[in-house]
Amino acid sequence: MARILITSAIPYINGIKHLGNLVGSQLPADLFARYSRARGHEVMFICATDEHGTPAELAAAKAGKPVDQYCAEMHEVQAEIARGFRLSFDHFGRSSSQRNHTLTQHFAGVLADNGLIREVAESQVYSIDDGRFLPDRYIEGTCPNCGYTSARGDQCDNCTKQLDPTDLINPHSTVSGSTNLEVRETKHLYLMQRSLRDKLEAWIESKHDWPILTTSIAKKWLNDGDGLQDRGITRDLHWGIPVKRGDQPWPGMEGKVFYVWFDAPIEYIASTAEWADANGLGDDAWERWWRTDKGAADVTYYQFMGKDNVPFHTLSFPATILGSGEPWKMVDYLKSFNYLNYDGGQFSTSRGRGVFMDQALSILPSDYWRWWLLSHAPESSDAEFTWENFQTSVNKDLADVLGNLVSRVTKFAKSKFGDAIPAGGAFGAQETALIADLGARIRTYETLMAAMDVRKAAAELRGIWVVGNEYLQSAAPWSVVKTDPDQAQAMIRLALNLIRIYAILSSPFIPDAAAAMMTALNSTDWTWPSDVPEAIRALPSSHEFAVPENLFRKITDEERADWQVKFAGVRT
Ligand code: MF3
Ligand code: ZN
Repeated sequence: MARILITSAIPYINGIKHLGNLVGSQLPADLFARYSRARGHEVMFICATDEHGTPAELAAAKAGKPVDQYCAEMHEVQAEIARGFRLSFDHFGRSSSQRNHTLTQHFAGVLADNGLIREVAESQVYSIDDGRFLPDRYIEGTCPNCGYTSARGDQCDNCTKQLDPTDLINPHSTVSGSTNLEVRETKHLYLMQRSLRDKLEAWIESKHDWPILTTSIAKKWLNDGDGLQDRGITRDLHWGIPVKRGDQPWPGMEGKVFYVWFDAPIEYIASTAEWADANGLGDDAWERWWRTDKGAADVTYYQFMGKDNVPFHTLSFPATILGSGEPWKMVDYLKSFNYLNYDGGQFSTSRGRGVFMDQALSILPSDYWRWWLLSHAPESSDAEFTWENFQTSVNKDLADVLGNLVSRVTKFAKSKFGDAIPAGGAFGAQETALIADLGARIRTYETLMAAMDVRKAAAELRGIWVVGNEYLQSAAPWSVVKTDPDQAQAMIRLALNLIRIYAILSSPFIPDAAAAMMTALNSTDWTWPSDVPEAIRALPSSHEFAVPENLFRKITDEERADWQVKFAGVRT
């Protein structure tokens, strides 16, 4: 039994995430957490909401709510949707928690003690009417390079030139439209990442088994001319973690907060502390996951995230940890994902294009989405959601292959042999062959799951369902029962046990259907089928079972067409 720490990138608080966000971090992390638990490991699965930063402040203002209240409400909304998708977090924390305040201030303090923080004076655009400094991307104006009139202060979307807000002609605030802007002097703290470059490089180089997607992004940022810059870790905002040096005031930094990307990954640790608090446990309970001097040396730590998050997790956050000089657990394996596109374009939160998590659950149960998303996870390249593909996968894999097997076997068994598993006959050559085949396939499935090879694992699982169907096709107990009822009984005994094995194997992907299968089989024995000859006999003759409700329904052509229109969004 191993100890496995799993974190998913923590979703921003403002707004509900779309399916592309879900499949890039939380869902595959959940798959791995469920699988690891099913194999008997001790798992700590952590997520949270990422609550600070300008977008949260602006979203709260738009909603006409105080930002703390907005965040508290949105956290509940996201937590509810996460439950809807059966995301099995041990804790879903909040980056605005007191725990994160304390830990973030602690890290900044030790980094300063270690000489890794310097103060930088800079000039920044201040919007007098908005009463705030504006991040570069909230200033728009005319591009000095190409004349495009909606160039952002950080970059022109038309000619891609990197800009400074002061380069813009006729700049205005996109928050209020105000042109009443001025440049003000301000002071910020910078984390001296450049002096940690060699340590970071050695650490990244030591990760031989990381996916290419992860290491290629990390190395690009490490080696590019302007890759590993010292990084501003404070902002002139109201909402955030006040800048302090540990628990001491930080002279000259009054009224400033830490940058959201500084405190967000620290929330992985803080959320685990929140978990301990919520369960009435002491600090040792969470420290044994995070402090290598307090038991975490034998923890294996996995992170899940979309590719846009990789630089922060391979460079910035490790710089915080390494720079602290303290024995914190660092990530062992970083699983990153490409993007999921939507029906010929991109998912777009701002344009409402694509399917968002709440909408998905309003039209179909979570297992349908979990299955499609995981079996099409954007691993080796970007992937695309289309309604045709979704309909085909659901109807074929879930309804025709798995659902049909379960209903056919249970109904037939009930009508021919009554309420209990029949006792007649014995397994013959066909059954022995199936058992051997399953054994080999389950080993492959285990290897793929352990490697977080999500798509291939899904394909293997589908293959495992298919061989059961093929067996039933060729064994044909519905015909055999007429000539050799004993033999048909043995076949059905095997098939009912097969359903239990399928429930256990499928549970990380489709937990609700798996639970329904186990309930129908009247079993609570979730023992992993490591030994197939044994597992296929786990439910003995005379064990009672029931016919479950239809596990999966098919998606009709009409529904597909409706949804395609409904979720097309407003294109601009
Ligand atoms: N909120 C970020 C996003 O959605 C992810 C933050 S992950 C963390 O892209 F490590 F910083 F917490
Ligand atoms: Zn331009």
